[in-house]
Amino acid sequence: MGKPTDHSAAEKVGVRVGRFIRSAHPDLSDLDRALAEEWLPDELLVLFMSQSEADQRHAVSVARLLLRSGYASRDLVAAALLHDVGKRGANFTPWHRTAIVLLEAAAPALLRRLARWERNRLLAPFAVHRKHAAEGAVLALRAGSSERTAALIREHHQSDGEPDEELQMLRWADDRA
Ligand SMILES: [Fe+2]
Ligand SMILES: [Fe+2]
Repeated sequence: MGKPTDHSAAEKVGVRVGRFIRSAHPDLSDLDRALAEEWLPDELLVLFMSQSEADQRHAVSVARLLLRSGYASRDLVAAALLHDVGKRGANFTPWHRTAIVLLEAAAPALLRRLARWERNRLLAPFAVHRKHAAEGAVLALRAGSSERTAALIREHHQSDGEPDEELQMLRWADDRA
């Protein structure tokens, strides 16, 4: 299967603003829930459902894009459903979500600086965002995921390292869902 082309920064902002707007109506459909139930064993399903409804819906969209593209390994689909689970429990206001989208595209160094203020209630979500991939991998392993699923979650925002087709596809789907 040919590797899809990368989104430009402007396209990424557009996709994420759309995700933000949809998050105002985050109801998970029966079909979404059925997909998660089909691909996750019980303990990972509990972890999936501990996410906000908006993040559950985003995760199902990522999984569905992968499946439609012919990527259907159980480890990858489980990673898609849990890739942002490290964000659970954080209080991301619309202001934070908008700021993260814009700063990732326009000022990533400033976003990294803001992420140092873990103890500041207003800025803490930036720190959660910075750490969510590593944190999510730990949560998934603790709930019984495979090492491969945990590795995909841990690296879903890293663009360096060894070429890994499934990881590239996870990033591709995450940028679009
Ligand atoms: Fe993420
Ligand atoms: Fe994501």
